[in-house]
Amino acid sequence: MTSTSQCCNSPNDKDTNNESTHDVVKDYYGKVLAGSDDLQTNACCTDDGLSTLMKTVLSNIHDEVLTRYYGCGLVTPESLAGCHILDLGCGAGRDCYALAQLVGESGSVIGVDMTDEQLAVANKHIEYHQNKFGFAKPNTTFLKGYIEKLDELNIPDNSIDVVISNCVINLSPDKNAVLKEVFRILKPGGEIYFSDVYADRRVPSHLVEDPLLYGECLSGALYWNDFENLAKHLGFAEPRLVSSRVITVDNDELAAKLEDIRFTSATYRLFKADGLETDAQDYGHQVKYLGTITEHEQAFHFDQSTYFVKGEVTNVSGNQWHTLKQSRFNKYFEFIENDSKHLGFFAAQNQRSEADFHFQIEPQQSASGCCSPAPAKKTSCC
Ligand SMILES: C[S@@+](CC[C@H](N)C(=O)[O-])C[C@H]1O[C@@H](n2cnc3c(N)ncnc32)[C@H](O)[C@@H]1O
Repeated sequence: MTSTSQCCNSPNDKDTNNESTHDVVKDYYGKVLAGSDDLQTNACCTDDGLSTLMKTVLSNIHDEVLTRYYGCGLVTPESLAGCHILDLGCGAGRDCYALAQLVGESGSVIGVDMTDEQLAVANKHIEYHQNKFGFAKPNTTFLKGYIEKLDELNIPDNSIDVVISNCVINLSPDKNAVLKEVFRILKPGGEIYFSDVYADRRVPSHLVEDPLLYGECLSGALYWNDFENLAKHLGFAEPRLVSSRVITVDNDELAAKLEDIRFTSATYRLFKADGLETDAQDYGHQVKYLGTITEHEQAFHFDQSTYFVKGEVTNVSGNQWHTLKQSRFNKYFEFIENDSKHLGFFAAQNQRSEADFHFQIEPQQSASGCCSPAPAKKTSCC
């Protein structure tokens, strides 16, 4: 297996290595695991703090789909009515069926996965969910394929409003190809909103080669700073960290193998927009949030450091100004024009540090992680 950081294979070697990584992952999610309880990690225990709406949405999903949930975060971007969504590595379809309710009958959700067993469960329950949601026809489809090769699935350029993904990109042997494809299929102003696993350093190749560590969404994880640089390089100018949660490794054998590398489950949002600069600059731009996003009437928590309070004027970087204007959030803001003089760096967006990821395990978070009580064998997340 190879990681994205290994650069020097010939194209044929690369294809062979990608294939072998895909086979290891297919085997793990298709044959080794029968349900979330078989995971050696704690990351799928992410439903604490669910809103009433999300509790209702999840309660409408078939038990068999819920049992095969292997995600590591909550993937619920705001304001989805009428959106066209694509889920990278949809598995048995939990997030697809959740968001299918939020996009409504005028929207659609496409799930892509490479593992037959996962897709079989997803496909089996299409009609059940259509009836449960009271829709005249299904708004959810599942496609078998590789997230590195969405072109082979005929997903057109600029066709998707929101790409989501939950604990999948870490499993890809070619993260560059995945994000490049995401950039291609997103409409201008569209975003990828996704949860995944990140490491506090580059994971050495002998750990990447370990099928259990890889399948458990640990050793394929990117060093967070490499991820941000990759995203920026591909045109996602300002990666926005929405939330993060430390992953605990309570299995001594696995923990010893991991050589003190710390992992976090983090949700990012990356926007595709025109006219963005390589980093956040301050032109004195300001916006006022109107308080009109459903379930976010008092405040819109855009990311970990950006909180738009209803009726309050907020300073934003030039990039954020352009992003909001081109995105589906445009109608929820008043855009206040200043004289657009350059005022230097927009400090809040140019100072990401390790501390933002909460890599240090807080005493109250250790051992039991997010689940109470934690099963003895649980280790990290996925
Ligand atoms: C950890 S599971 C997460 C599944 C789902 N997102 C969820 O939350 O339940 C990873 C899924 O990604 C799929 N997957 C991993 N790498 C893939 C790739 N390169 N192309 C397509 N699917 C992939 C696997 O088949 C598996 O179903």
